[in-house]
Amino acid sequence: MRTIVSVVGARPQFVKLAPVSRAFAALSGRVRHRIVHTGQHYDHEMSGRFFDELEIPRPDVDLGIGSGQHGRQTASMLAALEVELHNTSPEAVIVYGDTNSTLAATLAASKLQLPLCHIEAGLRSFDRSMPEEINRIVADHCADRLYPPTPVAMANLWTEGLGNRSVPAGDVMLDAVRHNEQLAAQNSDVLGRYGLENRDYGVVTIHRPINTTPDALAAILESLERIARRDLPLLFPMHPRTRAVLVGRVFAADSELRLVEPLGHLDMLRALSAARLVITDSGGLQKEAAFVGTPCITLRETTEWTETVEMGANVLVGDSAVKLQAAVRAALWTPAPDWQRAIRANYGDGEAARRIVEDIERWLLQEA
Ligand code: UD1
Repeated sequence: MRTIVSVVGARPQFVKLAPVSRAFAALSGRVRHRIVHTGQHYDHEMSGRFFDELEIPRPDVDLGIGSGQHGRQTASMLAALEVELHNTSPEAVIVYGDTNSTLAATLAASKLQLPLCHIEAGLRSFDRSMPEEINRIVADHCADRLYPPTPVAMANLWTEGLGNRSVPAGDVMLDAVRHNEQLAAQNSDVLGRYGLENRDYGVVTIHRPINTTPDALAAILESLERIARRDLPLLFPMHPRTRAVLVGRVFAADSELRLVEPLGHLDMLRALSAARLVITDSGGLQKEAAFVGTPCITLRETTEWTETVEMGANVLVGDSAVKLQAAVRAALWTPAPDWQRAIRANYGDGEAARRIVEDIERWLLQEA
């Protein structure tokens, strides 16, 4: 039986892995799908909880690499993955998205000359100061089979000479959201737990290095406290890095800014679906918000998900407090356009994982 390895390590990759893992299970035993976890994210709330809630089989191996400076973190993963992939010599390796785990697995598989597939290929923010942009470019150029989630991503791959290795299949995150939003509506008590009223609060997440320097974060928090005082309550689940920067800060007593632990995926989807708006610097959340119909305000100058902006679901405000305030008022007071048709045109029909897995199987047969 063929063995195909998926390498994951960080929160957004577990979400993408879930539909792919289900699609492999549906091949009824023709392929052995092995899951290798680098250990980039290791706290229960950042890792184990996602495997439980999303019903992903436990990783076959956890390399336990953990945090560190990017070079050291990536190097440790590369060294451990080289041994792991050498020992198991799978027929193909799948990497997801753009994290340091993606980069390390890309390099390890390429050096061992193992066929490499990249899911969520072709995204470009054209901002090379972000580590994710470099990771994406390297993964795309090393991969043998690329799966762009959108027509824009496919066009980017043609521009870089990679079009004939690429198969547009749709976005596995849409598969994930469509599968999980019902589960979340039934099982999550996040609104009650945090005393939130349907459509009467916003969700905030911040974790990018550029927004978590002490000065940048202080300025963002000042804006958020003002919004939470004047416009609507804000639920702010905090990434560990953000929390570490905030130790010792005193928060305004009259502001409805609610700082909480990181949410599991079902709680996050439920919180997003019932929110009036989301303020974030995450990549995935911009799209998840669009999929569940909630307007998004992004605290970045650029995005790799340009379609969300074009369809009117997302607005980029960078680090401008004035633009952030204006975007909040616009989201509260102007009716949002209906972008569901645009979602189908851009991200597919929620069957991306099945198409990808079937394509990998066919492609490996051709290559054999
Ligand atoms: C990584 C990805 C980013 C993705 C994000 C999702 C890269 C370059 N970036 O960023 O694209 O959006 O994951 O969350 O790979 N920490 C813990 N516990 C954990 C994990 C992290 O305490 O389980 C803390 C550590 O202090 C660590 C910091 O968070 O130094 C950053 O973690 P790291 O995995 O290096 O990067 P992320 O910022 O999470």
